[in-house]
Amino acid sequence: MTNNELERQLTDLPGRLLHNLAKGRVSRHFRMGKARLVQSLLKLSPDQRTEIGIEMATMLSASARPQSTPQPAKPLPPDPASQTSRHRPRHDSTQEPAVSKDALFEGIGTPSPAPFTPDEWQQEAIEHLTTGDVIVSVPTGSGKTYVAVEAMRRAISTDQTVIYTSPLKALSNTKLTEFAHMFGSENVGILTGDRRDNAHAPILIMTTEILRNLLYDAASGEIDMRLDTLGLVILDESQFLADPERGVVWEETIIFCPAQSRLLLLSASIGNPDEVAAWINLIRSTPCRLVHHRNRSVPLRAAYLDPSGTLVPFFRTRDIAQGKAFTLHPDAKRLFARYEDQTLGTRSKR
Ligand SMILES: Nc1ncnc2c1ncn2[C@@H]1O[C@H](COP(=O)(O)OP(=O)(O)OP(=O)(O)O)[C@@H](O)[C@H]1O
Ligand SMILES: [Mg+2]
Repeated sequence: MTNNELERQLTDLPGRLLHNLAKGRVSRHFRMGKARLVQSLLKLSPDQRTEIGIEMATMLSASARPQSTPQPAKPLPPDPASQTSRHRPRHDSTQEPAVSKDALFEGIGTPSPAPFTPDEWQQEAIEHLTTGDVIVSVPTGSGKTYVAVEAMRRAISTDQTVIYTSPLKALSNTKLTEFAHMFGSENVGILTGDRRDNAHAPILIMTTEILRNLLYDAASGEIDMRLDTLGLVILDESQFLADPERGVVWEETIIFCPAQSRLLLLSASIGNPDEVAAWINLIRSTPCRLVHHRNRSVPLRAAYLDPSGTLVPFFRTRDIAQGKAFTLHPDAKRLFARYEDQTLGTRSKR
């Protein structure tokens, strides 16, 4: 069979049969759309192409067989006990059951009240702040705020000033409400492009841009802030350091941060926290410690609601309560394969 004939026959083949042919021959075939799969099969060695030609003919004649024709008896499934570990099939993802909405969202709710006990990493971060700067890089929802609040409490108890920065005005406003509730509204002020309230409070919330500008002014001698009493600078959402446009603001804030104040960087998504810690160690006189872990206290439940109304979990769920990131659920693999041609097409048109 010529390559052109093979291509035509493969293209006419239903996707399911095409994937059967690709099993064991094309790696990650389940992620491919039909067009890419055909091209990958055509790139196989001449021997493999001959093999798939023969298999395809067998498949087609089997599917063309009339329903009434008696089917050969199905072979019994192999006895698992007789299989060596080498030949035992790995997890058969196609058998994984679809997940219902209830199962996916199971366990979401308000936990029953329990006494608060700080996690070891939270205590470690607070402890390190007594001797130097700290980067806390832990997953979202882990409790970074506790570290910030505890560090603030300690700083203001010794008459130091605290500056807490966030990348957004809206987040700064939320933090004002939260911290005023904890420390009393007289102890918390805010400075953003839109607002200037209680600017002499011991705890000041501001956007990182405002702090950078204050530090610029201080560097040029126009000192107005109580930078000499500044004991703690907290940069929340510090992954903005990597932002192509705004990252420079975080960078300069760290560079100009007064030597006597401690820096606390909080983030759930710094890709290279150890490199950032090494850089801060280089440019500042105090040591910088990294507190880093990847354990999610709040499980990640990622799902896609297909326009047909079907809920497709992204991650494998069998034997894992809420799925495990990086192990795609078979339904998600099928979904990606279904839309791959369209998405690749869109990308190549750009
Ligand atoms: N040690 C702990 N034990 C139990 N719950 C905790 C603990 N520390 C914090 N929490 C609770 O965890 C929840 C999430 O905390 P927090 O908002 O500080 O997370 P975060 O790490 O700042 O998340 P994000 O990355 O979304 O900003 C809060 O309700 C908080 O009260
Ligand atoms: Mg937070």
